[in-house]
Amino acid sequence: MLVSATEMLQKAKAGHYAVGQFNINNLEWTKAVLLTAQECNSPVILGVSEGAGKYMTGYKTVAAMVGAMMDELGITVPVATHLDHGSFEGCKKCVEAGFTSIMFDGSKYPIEENVAKTKELVAICKEKGMSLEAEVGSIGGEEDGVVGAGECADPNECKMIADLGIDFLAAGIGNIHGKYPENWAGLSFDTLDAIQKLTGDMPLVLHGGTGIPDDMIKKAITLGVAKINVNTDCQLVFADATRKYIEAGKDLEGKGFDPRKLLAPGTEAIKACVKTKMELFGSVGKA
Ligand code: G3H
Ligand code: ZN
Repeated sequence: MLVSATEMLQKAKAGHYAVGQFNINNLEWTKAVLLTAQECNSPVILGVSEGAGKYMTGYKTVAAMVGAMMDELGITVPVATHLDHGSFEGCKKCVEAGFTSIMFDGSKYPIEENVAKTKELVAICKEKGMSLEAEVGSIGGEEDGVVGAGECADPNECKMIADLGIDFLAAGIGNIHGKYPENWAGLSFDTLDAIQKLTGDMPLVLHGGTGIPDDMIKKAITLGVAKINVNTDCQLVFADATRKYIEAGKDLEGKGFDPRKLLAPGTEAIKACVKTKMELFGSVGKA
């Protein structure tokens, strides 16, 4: 069932678990995430970065592919199609294309501008029945051209943005996109705690889900995190499984070069990765 992410995340916050956002890149990625969510009876959010949206031809193609695939696969668990780290213009395009959810990443703007732009999108999303994620502070590292300094969010600014009527809030708490450096200081739980105290029932979002140790993930959930984003991990396992298939010469045996065979090990690896994350986040059986 294609839905906005509002209800699934409110339930997650109240039930002390988190829903995974898994970024998609193509048909295989989408199918792997949807089938795993159905198998795990878990709600799920399909994340689409602006770069991945372009790669898949455009947001309308993505929306149509997800809708048709859910229909033909018989997916009944709640699924949201969500723009990840969207620009203001990208958000508007996804509203037009029929996404059910968007993230406006206004973290690079001064807070007044972040507030003004977020406010405009709140009105649009309310009218369309879509959910809206906003960001304060920034996520370190780089994802698809989105670069962040990684400064921790100011809890008072988080409250300002939360009070605009958004549905869930991403806050920088020392998290980083991609692989974490050896000398990473860890998540700032003091910041997270201060944010959750000021924002009440607002579901909080943890970006940079790859490489955060399991105990930190669990602690973050106890402090109000109800959505966790995972992208790089699925890319790493896909690349690794594909490399092994080719290095073992499987592409040279029989019809092993057939793309449907060549892409199968990577697709299975994504399924296993998504299942492990859903178990860790506690969303299995929560559809
Ligand atoms: O927005 C998406 C993410 O925050 C994913 O982060 O690539 O570290 O898993 P990741
Ligand atoms: Zn992110």
